[in-house]
Formats: sequence, C-alpha cells, structure tokens
Amino acid sequence: MALLTFQVLLAAAALLCVVALARKLYSPLAGVPGSKLSLFSSIQLRYHEMHGRRTAFVHSMHRRYGTAVRLGPNEVSFASASAMKEIYMSKGSGYDKTEFYDLFRQFGLSKTLLVSILATKLLTGYVFFQHSKRRRILADRYANSNIMREDSLHGIQQRSQNFVTRIKESPQQNLDIYLHLHNYAFDCVTHHLFHPHGSNSLLDKTDEEIMCEVSFDNSLVRRLMIFYNPTFGHFLGKMGLFGAQRAIPRAQALVKNAVKQENSASFTLVGALQDGKGSLDSTQIASECMDHMIAGIETTGDALCFLMWQLSQPAYVGLQDRLRAELRENAYMSIHELPFLDAVVKEGLRVFPSIPMSLPRCVPAGGATVDGWWLPEGTTVSCQPFSMHRMDEDVFPAPDSFNPDRWLEEKGSADRNRLFFSFSAGGRACIGRHLATAEMKTLLRDIYSHFRSTPADEMAADMMMDDQIFTTRPKGQKCLLKFTIVE
Ligand code: HEM
Repeated sequence: MALLTFQVLLAAAALLCVVALARKLYSPLAGVPGSKLSLFSSIQLRYHEMHGRRTAFVHSMHRRYGTAVRLGPNEVSFASASAMKEIYMSKGSGYDKTEFYDLFRQFGLSKTLLVSILATKLLTGYVFFQHSKRRRILADRYANSNIMREDSLHGIQQRSQNFVTRIKESPQQNLDIYLHLHNYAFDCVTHHLFHPHGSNSLLDKTDEEIMCEVSFDNSLVRRLMIFYNPTFGHFLGKMGLFGAQRAIPRAQALVKNAVKQENSASFTLVGALQDGKGSLDSTQIASECMDHMIAGIETTGDALCFLMWQLSQPAYVGLQDRLRAELRENAYMSIHELPFLDAVVKEGLRVFPSIPMSLPRCVPAGGATVDGWWLPEGTTVSCQPFSMHRMDEDVFPAPDSFNPDRWLEEKGSADRNRLFFSFSAGGRACIGRHLATAEMKTLLRDIYSHFRSTPADEMAADMMMDDQIFTTRPKGQKCLLKFTIVE
C-alpha cells in the first residue's frame, strides 16, 4: 500500500514537471532568442546583477542573440529604436514602470515621480493622471529656460569655480575627481532644489559627509536579495551577512529643513511645490525633493568622472587641445553655442551613460507586440542605454571608441539622436536632463579652458564599470587626476 502511494506521488510529481516544462517550452517567450537556461530561470541574470555586471552581461547577450534577447522566463531586453519607441513612448508615457522602482523609497513613501505607479497600482488610470500632472507642475523648473536664468546659472558657475578652487588648493594639483564631482553634483542639485538652503560640500567638510552618506552606498546585494526574496533576504540580514543597515539621517535632515524654509529662490523646485499647485503636504514635498536630490548626484557625478578620465588618457590629449581652443576663442559664448563641447558631452554620455542598464517596464493588460514579438501582459521589457548606443554599427561605427567628431557630422544625425538613450525617452524620461547638461558643460568649460588633465602617478584604482541598483560607478571609487595649468 505504502509503495503504491509512493508510486502515485512520484507519477503526480513527474506529471507536474512535464506540465511545467511544456508551459515554458510553449510560452510566447520561447521563440525569443536567448539562452536555453533563460527560458526556465533568471539565475544567470541575477548572478551578474549581484556582482555589479548586469549591463555587461545583457550587452553580451545582445551581441550574441541580436536586438531582442530573452533574459529570463518573464523578461526580454531590446536594443532598437522601434522597440524603444513602443516601450517608452507609446501613448506618451509608454508602459508602466515595474516594481523594481520600489527599491527607491524615501521617507517611507513610495517614490513619487519615479514610482508613483507603485503607490496606487490598482488604480491604473489615476496613476497615469498623477504622474503626468505632477510632471507638468515640475516641468517648468527643469525647462532649459529656467536652468539658464541668470540666478540659476550663476549658482552652477559658482559651484564650478569652487571645483577649480579645489584643484588649485590640492597638493601638486592632484585631485580625486570621483569624490569632488559628486560634491559638485550635490551642490548643484541642492542649489536647484533649495537655494539659498542648498549644500556647500566642495568647500565644507560637514556637507561633504552628507553627500557621502547619500551617495557612497554599498548595499547592492542586500537590497537585491531583499527585493527578489524578502524572507531569505531578511534572514541573511539578521544573520549579519550584509553589515549594518544603511541610513541617511543627515541627508533627510537637510531636506526636511530646506522644505520648512519660506524664502527659497523662485527658480527652485521647492518653491514650485510650496506654492500649493501640487497639493502636497510637507512630507510629500520632502520625499519628492529627496528623490530629485538622489537622482541628481551619482548620475551627473559619475558621467563627468568617466568622461574626464577618458579625456585624460594619453590618446586624447589632442581632444583636450581642440576643446581648449574652442573654449578660449569663444569665452563669452553661451555653453550651448559651442559645438565641440556639445559633442564631447554627448559622446561621453553615449559611451559611459551613468544609467547604462535596463530601464524595466511592464507589458500592459492584453499583451503587446514589440519588434514583432508578441509578449503576454506582465512581461518585463526594457532597453538599456549601453546597448542602444552600440548595437547599430551603421549609426555608431566602432561603437566602443570615444569619438566626439561623430556628433559633428550632419549625415546620420537624426539616426544618432534617435538612438541616444542616456536620459531615456518619452513621458518618464529624465526631467533633470537640462540641469545635468548645464552642470557638465559649465564645469568642463572652466577646467579645460585653463588646465590639462592626466592620470596622476599614484592613480591605481580600477575604473571598470561597477553597476549598482540603477547607476554604474568606477569600481575603485577613486579617480586621481593631475591638473596642469596651460598658459
Ligand atoms: C548625466 C546625468 C543624468 C542622467 C544620465 C540621467 C538619466 C536618467 C534616466 C535614464 C532616467 C529615466 C529612468 C527610467 O526611465 O527608469 C532619469 C529619470 C529621472 N531623473 Fe535623471 N539623469 C541625470 C541627471 C539628473 C539630474 C541632475 C536630476 C535632477 C533632479 C535628475 C532627475 C531625474 C528624475 C526626477 C527622474 C524621474 C523622472 C520621472 O519619473 O518622470 N536626473 N534620469
């Protein structure tokens, strides 16, 4: 009798396995190119994610399988302009963000602009309204015309001069630009959010500590583990495997204090939120501002860091000379009227997008067809900037090489801009794009008008990309450059 029961159980288990196997083999994702393993499990992707190599892994899959690749039983990555248009721009805002964005909670609230979707995901129509309405309220503060206003731009210029002061005052003019570019980005974004209540971390150690608290985060594995498997993740956390839990009390205090002030400059974000148009209470305003503050530090800091490191390599001294010539000949022109400076910034963001990895979205109810592949609702789909900038070699020949001149050619310009994805696209693209560009151009102008940069003799840190939850950073978290004055 016992033997019979065992045989029945074994047969039932075998049947279940066969059914599960058949469901995978006949799933709509079975036809999408990708490794056999990815049909059954995302383990390979998760492994690379935990080791800070998600972008490189996904790109290697694209190189192997083409512009559509299955990454897991429920996940597909695309690398084409048509897929990008469908995923991020259809009906304006594209598909909804996935729960991945829940990893960015501030003040206990679901992240507003970035993940407004999650707070009220059952009310899909309302969520769409909420995001687009909020975005409209905030948009004018991030419009290029507001960023380029004299009082706003003057603040960025002052912070850029503070960076130059750091160069001049550093021993032998060797500066860890990784640290100080984060300080620069922190001071610029808090200026834009809160002036006159922003930070001064380039000159003030206490504010630099706040920047480090927010920015230099080593909780990648903890956060991913807890996200993918809360029970197991929390269990490992309790066992002390991940070290102390990360907290950002001083950054929260800075934001809360700035939100309480009533005399913020008219170009600031907090000013727009306080005037009641958004109907947000002070905790919601603080949460929104904290999101923007965090979104504006590593992105701009790391993009500038990778770019300046590249420009400092021996092969690119000639580019620095060309840049200097343009900057000196046009010292009184606006930063946006300098074509070579523009090309350098764009090529930097193309080769080293500081958010290089997949921006995940969820296929809407009823399913959808992306690049000819029909995908059921709930499938995670994405494009990653790193691959968008490399897969089409007709548009970007020799895609791994850093060549600003490609942006100066008229031929192919529309195609290049169509594939440029560093700030994403559509209704949920980067709202801080103009601010980031102004910060980057202002600093590069101030530095390369007067200095030549080279790697410092002592520089031994690893500059390989090390992916975090959303951004990538140099693995060694240090980038020592030597600055020499050019007469
Ligand atoms: C080089 C610098 C920057 C890069 C490469 C960058 C890139 C991006 C990307 C790719 C997204 C879309 C994320 C997604 O779709 O999942 C995004 C969103 C966002 N970025 Fe940036 N960003 C930069 C600088 C900034 C700055 C300076 C701010 C200042 C506040 C900022 C604020 C935001 C915000 C608030 C969002 C969410 C927009 C929304 O959901 O509507 N970013 N950024």
